[in-house]
Amino acid sequence: MKKYSTEIYNTIKSITNKGPKELHAPFFTEHEKYFLNKCINTGVVSTIGNFVNIFEKKISKVTRSKFTVAVNSGTSALHLSLIAANLKKNEEVLMPAFNFIANANAVSYLGGIPHFVDIEKESLGVDPIKLEHYLQRVLKKKGEEYFNKNSGRKIKILMVTHIFGHSAKIKEIIKLAKKFNFIVIEDASEALGSFNDKKHLGTFGDIGVLSFNGNKIITTGGGGAILTNNKKYFKKIKSLSTVCKIQHQWNYNYHDVGYNYRMPNINAALGLAQLKNLKNLLSSKRKLFKLYNKKIKNLSWVSLLNEPKKCKSNFWLQTLIISKKNKSLLEFIISYVNKKGIQARPVWNLINLNKPYKYCPSMNLKNSIEMKERTFNIPSSAGIILIKNERK
Ligand SMILES: Cc1ncc(COP(=O)(O)O)c(C=O)c1O
Repeated sequence: MKKYSTEIYNTIKSITNKGPKELHAPFFTEHEKYFLNKCINTGVVSTIGNFVNIFEKKISKVTRSKFTVAVNSGTSALHLSLIAANLKKNEEVLMPAFNFIANANAVSYLGGIPHFVDIEKESLGVDPIKLEHYLQRVLKKKGEEYFNKNSGRKIKILMVTHIFGHSAKIKEIIKLAKKFNFIVIEDASEALGSFNDKKHLGTFGDIGVLSFNGNKIITTGGGGAILTNNKKYFKKIKSLSTVCKIQHQWNYNYHDVGYNYRMPNINAALGLAQLKNLKNLLSSKRKLFKLYNKKIKNLSWVSLLNEPKKCKSNFWLQTLIISKKNKSLLEFIISYVNKKGIQARPVWNLINLNKPYKYCPSMNLKNSIEMKERTFNIPSSAGIILIKNERK
């Protein structure tokens, strides 16, 4: 085990050199200070302000989404997407268990019940073939609606996550969703700048979600966005995110129960500065992948997760996959590398293994269980490349 751990440690060390050793550090330039100062000088730093409107327009431009609503986190974006999709108490929502917990939490906020599905090993996204076989067995149709035969609960929403900046088999998943009249919420939190066949991730489904948390490809400190081409969803989400206030210059009236989820102006200012550097960040992440891959290719027992065919990944987190399931080796490597000052992390524990979700319905999760025990992330900051260039 020591031999394998040393191989990984030496590889990471030789590449990160004097760059950041954490999993994903944000990268800032003078732009950020300029934009933040500019925002502070306006005195408008909170939930009203022009930086947010401009940020939304720029995100729409990058993603080619007709509408964008900027909010204060990816989690609140998921929450509002589910309200827009009209999720009701006791309905089940299909989602991968190999996923960040925010998806399940957002469903729970509305009294819904996550129903866990398996992934395929190539992209680590939902497996459309396995899911179709499962749904044919487990669903019952009543009129135009589908119900879980075992629980009797309605299922009308499928959540899909693009993992670590790589595209899930989204075209096949959308085709499958159409067969069952599912609304698709596409969690592209980790995938700004990633495309499948030249179409930005998060724009295939009915609603897409991005996150701009501090560890993402660009950051607004904390923040998220909802992408949609559907005007009805857009209007509903925009209104919900601004406490359902009826627009008026001075009167305060509200047409429904809303949420204080709008992205603050100061966060949007930071985001605008980050977007100026997006191209640079993306090319650095690709360069970093190539550097790692050149070395990892020489190791027979491990490989680096690559972008799927016809796709363009943002390579948000570099992901190593051990060729055979070996939980103790995985744990040994992670512990060894961390003790030596380099951050390496296992993927999230499967959501269904966490206390609040232990009793939720689930299909056979064979691939998820296997990949959880074969996969880990290594330092992936754009700064590893960009700081090197600055030093030249
Ligand atoms: C796949 C996925 N979904 C949702 C989220 C939630 O985003 P946030 O942290 O902005 O709430 C994250 C990020 O943390 C994520 O990685």
